[in-house]
Amino acid sequence: MEFELRQRGRSAIDFAADMGAMGMKLSAAVGAKIADVELPEDFDEQLEMMEQRLGDNPQQQFLLAMGEWSATTHGEITFDAFKEIQPELEPEFERLRQGGTQIETRPGYEPPDYWVGVDFHRTTGGWVREHQGFVHGELIHPKYVAKNFPGGIFKQRRDVLNELGDRKFSNILEMGTSSGHFTVALAEAFPEAAITGVEPGLPMLEQAQRFGNERGASWRLIQASAEETGLPDSSFDLVTSYILLHELPARATRAVFVEAFRLLEPGGVVFMSDVQPFRAMPRIAQWRANAGALRGGEPYWREAASLDLAALATELGFEDARSYGLGERQYPWVTIARKPAA
Ligand SMILES: C[S@@+](CC[C@H](N)C(=O)[O-])C[C@H]1O[C@@H](n2cnc3c(N)ncnc32)[C@H](O)[C@@H]1O
Repeated sequence: MEFELRQRGRSAIDFAADMGAMGMKLSAAVGAKIADVELPEDFDEQLEMMEQRLGDNPQQQFLLAMGEWSATTHGEITFDAFKEIQPELEPEFERLRQGGTQIETRPGYEPPDYWVGVDFHRTTGGWVREHQGFVHGELIHPKYVAKNFPGGIFKQRRDVLNELGDRKFSNILEMGTSSGHFTVALAEAFPEAAITGVEPGLPMLEQAQRFGNERGASWRLIQASAEETGLPDSSFDLVTSYILLHELPARATRAVFVEAFRLLEPGGVVFMSDVQPFRAMPRIAQWRANAGALRGGEPYWREAASLDLAALATELGFEDARSYGLGERQYPWVTIARKPAA
């Protein structure tokens, strides 16, 4: 969508993004001080040991203060930037409600208990604040996160689909659609496919709808939970998600794979991209991931990164289940498996 932020809002977002870049430099400096540390296996003991080691380190203190500032203010900074231009966006919002991409809501829908009331990423209002779809999809992601995210957050969403090889999919279900950034990548990779997205957060689907209608696409967007979509058995040849699973407790991830199996036609593929599991990391990276998740509004990261998704998929009846990381950074971590042919 075409829009121009006011100078105040734009510079506030740039400032927050620049703080992120500074934080990364500082983090590398702190990292050099702990390169020799030998961490225990237990995650809590890792946190404790590093607290003792770095507790009075001024660079670490400054890094933590910067991180806390970013975590607690990025949601408000971006929301304020949106409010400054909201009146001129409203006609565009109205225009982009029209088109082939429509949102379905279901009477009596109850979002998952582990999702309600959580401000994921510590973004004020979590995934439910009014207009959070625009704020996340047009401001936080492209103008704040993308500036410092290694590998390019949009490129990664496109590149990951190369792992599916040459197979052309025609009925795709995306779980955890959010503001639609992976939906866009799916639509580009599979222009002939019918795409359905499920997501509990209505404001997020409103932005996905805008991305869809801007492209003349006809996505079916449903306010629903991935583990209970209400969609018919065997109705998709690809069930997929991008960075959904680390926001779920382990019990929900299991239910999501069960639902994916039910929804796939025989021979259909489940393809999930998410964070690296702890077993693939050196201990220092485990500590970093854990500490970052605790401070960064990721309540289920630890249990999610402790799962073996290929083993889970195999246990639930999938074939040829594989999990592996992409590129030098081993990110994202993909899990791919097939429902047996009939
Ligand atoms: C990190 S975002 C995913 C972003 C999106 N897939 C993308 O590539 O930009 C995670 C999304 O998953 C949604 N979510 C969380 N629990 C869910 C569930 N049980 N079923 C479906 N979506 C869920 C959240 O509301 C949020 O919008």
